[in-house]
Amino acid sequence: MRPASPPIVQDRIERYDTLKRSFLRTGCPDCPLKATRKNLVFDRGNPQADILVIGEAPGEQEEKTGQCFVGRAGKMLDRMLTYAGLDPARDVLIANVLKCRPPDNRTPTPEEAHSCLPTLLEQIRITQPKLMLLMGRTAYGRLYPDKAKTLKMSEEAGQVADATIAEHRTRIAVMYHPAYLLYDPRKRTEAMTHLDNVRQELTRQHLDPKPKPEQL
Ligand code: URA
Repeated sequence: MRPASPPIVQDRIERYDTLKRSFLRTGCPDCPLKATRKNLVFDRGNPQADILVIGEAPGEQEEKTGQCFVGRAGKMLDRMLTYAGLDPARDVLIANVLKCRPPDNRTPTPEEAHSCLPTLLEQIRITQPKLMLLMGRTAYGRLYPDKAKTLKMSEEAGQVADATIAEHRTRIAVMYHPAYLLYDPRKRTEAMTHLDNVRQELTRQHLDPKPKPEQL
């Protein structure tokens, strides 16, 4: 028999569930994407996990299924997570800056991100992740708007640092977006080094990474 969750964990699960259900009922009331979206996409994975992965916005497959990162980029993300020593179904919760698909998968506008960000911050507040993987420049730039304009992912990707986000003290790891690694496979060697940094961080926090596959 599985042991019962302690009350504090139970409370977190209930709060997360309430947030998700209420968001899926209404969406962001003021978002310009209200007019074009077919489905809201809240998350994928385990809300009790210690690690939160943050991407950009749902694409076509995500909009169809209502789950984050289930298309080609999602398969690549799962490989990245596995390479870092994580089980994508059990060890992480996955969310996006935007919960609606932008038309033609274009980059989210500042207004769209601004309208959607409070929900992501609430997800962080409730789940209190020990490590957050920021996948690509939208995730990093929207959580650190001061950096957004001058941000060079080639310089910042791979770093693991202390952070306070949504009043929560945590660690962040800045990563290339999986779609970028599909677009330019030559960047995968560099990405493997970044994922090794994540693996080291998991070990440092006693989060027990699994054995490493040979290739990404
Ligand atoms: N799918 C997602 O859910 N997020 C991304 O950033 C890309 C694809």
